[in-house]
This record gives sequence, C-alpha cells and structure tokens, in this order.
Amino acid sequence: MAVGIDALAGKVGGSLRGKRVLVRSDLNVPLEDGEEGQVRVADDGRIRASVPTIKALADAGARVVVAAHLGRPKGAPDPAYSLRPVAERLGELLGNPVYFADDTVGQSAHDTVSELRDGQVALLENVRFNPGETSKDDAERGAFAVDLASLADAFVSDGFGVVHRKQASVYDVAQRLPHAMGGLVAAEIDVLRRLTEDPERPYVVVLGGSKVSDKLAVIDNLLGKADALLVGGGMVFTFLAAQGHGVGRSLLEQDQVDTCREYLRRAADTGVELVLPTDVVVAPEFAADATPTVVAVDAIPDDQIGLDIGPESSAAFAAAIRPARTVFWNGPMGVFEFDAFASGTRAVAQALTEIDGLSVVGGGDSAAAVRRLGFADSAFGHISTGGGASLEYLEGKALPGIDVLEES
Ligand code: 3PG
Repeated sequence: MAVGIDALAGKVGGSLRGKRVLVRSDLNVPLEDGEEGQVRVADDGRIRASVPTIKALADAGARVVVAAHLGRPKGAPDPAYSLRPVAERLGELLGNPVYFADDTVGQSAHDTVSELRDGQVALLENVRFNPGETSKDDAERGAFAVDLASLADAFVSDGFGVVHRKQASVYDVAQRLPHAMGGLVAAEIDVLRRLTEDPERPYVVVLGGSKVSDKLAVIDNLLGKADALLVGGGMVFTFLAAQGHGVGRSLLEQDQVDTCREYLRRAADTGVELVLPTDVVVAPEFAADATPTVVAVDAIPDDQIGLDIGPESSAAFAAAIRPARTVFWNGPMGVFEFDAFASGTRAVAQALTEIDGLSVVGGGDSAAAVRRLGFADSAFGHISTGGGASLEYLEGKALPGIDVLEES
C-alpha cells in the first residue's frame, strides 16, 4: 500500500507538480452561530489534523481538491450542512485561500478545479449532498465515484473518521484512481495497532457516551483483551438496570439490559474488572441550570435524570486509570457541555494525562470534550479523529476505506 506523497508521485510519473490530487479528509466538525448570523466552526480539531497532508501535497506542487462531508444530510443540498464555513477555517489554518466549489461534481466543481494553479487548494461542497455518496447500491455509488475521479489524476485517503464507511469518496473512488494512504490515516492506524497488538499492561478502557447499543461489539471484543473496563456516560444506566437498580428517568435501553447482564457475568468469569459508578449526579431536567444532586446508584429517585458520574466514582475511575500503561477512552462520562455535569469527564481526562504510558482519546465527542474542558491536545498520547472508525477497528472489523487501499 502506498503511503505518503512520494509513493503517490511514483504512481503518476514521478512528480505531483501540476497533478490534480483528490484528498478525502474528515472535516465533519461541530458548527455554532457566530456574530451577525454567521455560522462558524466550534471545534476545529479535525481540520487541524487534516492540514499536514493537504499542505504536503500543495507544497509538492499538486492542485489539491479536498472532498469531505458534514453531518448527515439526506442526499440533497441543504444549506445547514454546507462546508463553506469549513473552507474559510481551512484557509486560515493553511495560511492560503481555499477555493470553494458550490457543488460536488457539477459545473462549479469543474470550474473551480480547472482554475487551480499548482500548489493551490479547493474544497468541494459536502459530498453527502449527492445521493451516490452513501448509497447502498454499488452502481449508484460507483457512478458518483466516476464523477469524482474525473476531477483528479490521483487520490489520497486521509479521512480517518470515515474509513469504516463504504462510501463513494472513501471506497469506490480509490478503485478508480492511483491512490495512497494519507499521513493522518497512517498515524491513526499505527496507534490503533499498538492498542490491539500486545498493548502494554495494565490496559484500561474507558467507555461512555449515550448509547450502549453503539458499544456492544467493542465491549464484547475488549472483555477478552483489556484488564479493566470502566463504564460511564448515558450508557451506564442500562448496566445499572442490569444490576437491578432503578434509574429514574435516565437514558435506558431496555432491550439491552439482558446483554449488559451477560457482560457483567462474563467479566466476573474472565477476571476482567468491569467498573461501574457507585454514585451519579442527577437533576430534575436536562438543562444547564438544572439543580444537580449526588445520589448513590441504588437510590436514584424516580423523577430524576442521571447526567454525570458522581464524585466517589470519578475518584475511583481516576484511581483505576492512573497505574495503567495503556488507556483507550471513548465517550464522555456525562453531559460535559453543561458545567454542572462535566466533573466526571474532567476527572477521567485528567487521569489520562497522568499515566506513564500510551493514552488515546478516541472520537469526536471525547476530543471535543477534552478541548472544551481546557486540556491541551499535547497532554494525551494521541487524540483520534475517528470515534466510529476507531471503535470498529478495536471491534476487529474490516475497515473498507483501508482494505480498498491494500487491494489495488
Ligand atoms: C464521524 O463524525 O464520526 C465521522 O465524520 C463519520 O461520520 P458519520 O458517522 O456520519 O459517517
């Protein structure tokens, strides 16, 4: 598999100068309302992570055409999901303008690409505005990939956050152009390999986030690999229900209670420490100014919602994390966007910064959480740009966007 721009240059006659290179980046970032009705990027972590590959290609003289998605529009243009604010931020970070195409493979895209000079960068509008991008029909996806490929001479796969998606700009286009793996994807895969192939022990995994159903496969896989599994966030209430506790009005996936009970039993059988909170912070409603109360997990009032792990649990989680030599963390411990319910997430993040070993923060939500709580990216061994992608890797699943690069 070709990695890097030198390898790609070798596939297109020795030099990238003047070559149109399509780069799939993951620029799926949260947006917020700025001044005077402007929409702006709320957390630019993924854009920053995408810059080195784009810059290296531009520095090599390529005409760089970036393809990316934002959110989950329904296969048609929708201004709420436009990448225009992202183009602006990308330009600021590159220190050069980024030319924006108003469509994906239409007139604007063709005009924008044909006007690019060597070393210049363009961003196409959200690829998910085209139904072919996410189609389950190979022919429909393939047709969109042909159109994308017509904009370029070569392809670089650098959107780690989407490599688990069999989508046109991730998978099918790689079958149609000389291609290489970008530096970001290579770096991410390298870290994930270190987590799966003989991790230094103790190996502790911390899982949070709202839905346990998103994490079942990874829990299943990690029960045989990690030394301890710490569970917090909204998903923990299904585990607490499995332990026989009432969870009030907290998030609960009733249909997963039996599965969680089975995991608790398996953990006990295999000697994996499955650590659940002993106390939680509850409130009468899901709101920033709701009154927080700390209660034991066996005393959650019927009319309250659990919004964070409690202080005793935060201390216990931190104590379990600190001696670890390898830690993977995916998913916040509570509603970190509200200050009153951010303590559990802060305690876990702090403990990760204190370990003597490899700490990996996986996923958009956890990455945004650590930045919002004021931690520097450099405080962690690695902040992954891909939540779903890193989880699927840890589940042992094949990643179509990686496999396709190896196939051809
Ligand atoms: C992400 O945010 O995890 C990636 O950008 C992938 O987005 P998706 O889950 O909408 O495919």
